[in-house]
Amino acid sequence: MRVAKHIARFIVPLALAACDSPPADLREWRPSDHNNASREDLGGGSAPSDVLSNARALWASQCVACHGREGRGDGTQTAVRPPDMTAAAFQQSHSDEQLALSISRGKNGTMPAFSSLRPEAIQSLVALVRSFAAR
Ligand code: HEC
Repeated sequence: MRVAKHIARFIVPLALAACDSPPADLREWRPSDHNNASREDLGGGSAPSDVLSNARALWASQCVACHGREGRGDGTQTAVRPPDMTAAAFQQSHSDEQLALSISRGKNGTMPAFSSLRPEAIQSLVALVRSFAAR
């Protein structure tokens, strides 16, 4: 009993002293702390700008010869002129699924099939085609 009292006399002031002063590295959370998460923390997804820049590289090497730099259908390597992708009529009459299917399977024997492209690459090309819409 006397020992317990002695310990309490020693411990209580120590505990109170610890509560008085928080550790030096403890501070309030700030919104900027949130930005420190790495891509991996966020599930490894790419930012939209990366997706488009990958698609642009693909477009430049695989599509530009027929479709032209901005998708106006003014490339030189095709007998049949591809559609003008900047036109609202084109954008509105095609769903994302249709665009993806045409890219992977080709169309009418004039648009070649890109069946070896991974689904993510095809999705990024669809996003690029959407970005051609006249603003
Ligand atoms: C050899 C020329 C050629 C190349 C290379 C080519 N295309 Fe095409 N593409 C065409 C032609 C021609 C059409 C029009 C087909 C039609 O509607 O009859 C077309 C149509 C399309 C369409 C519209 C399909 C639809 O459903 O109406 C999309 C989207 C498209 N191309 C994307 C691409 C992408 C992305 C690439 C590169 C990965 C590519 N094309 C490469 C010639 C080409």
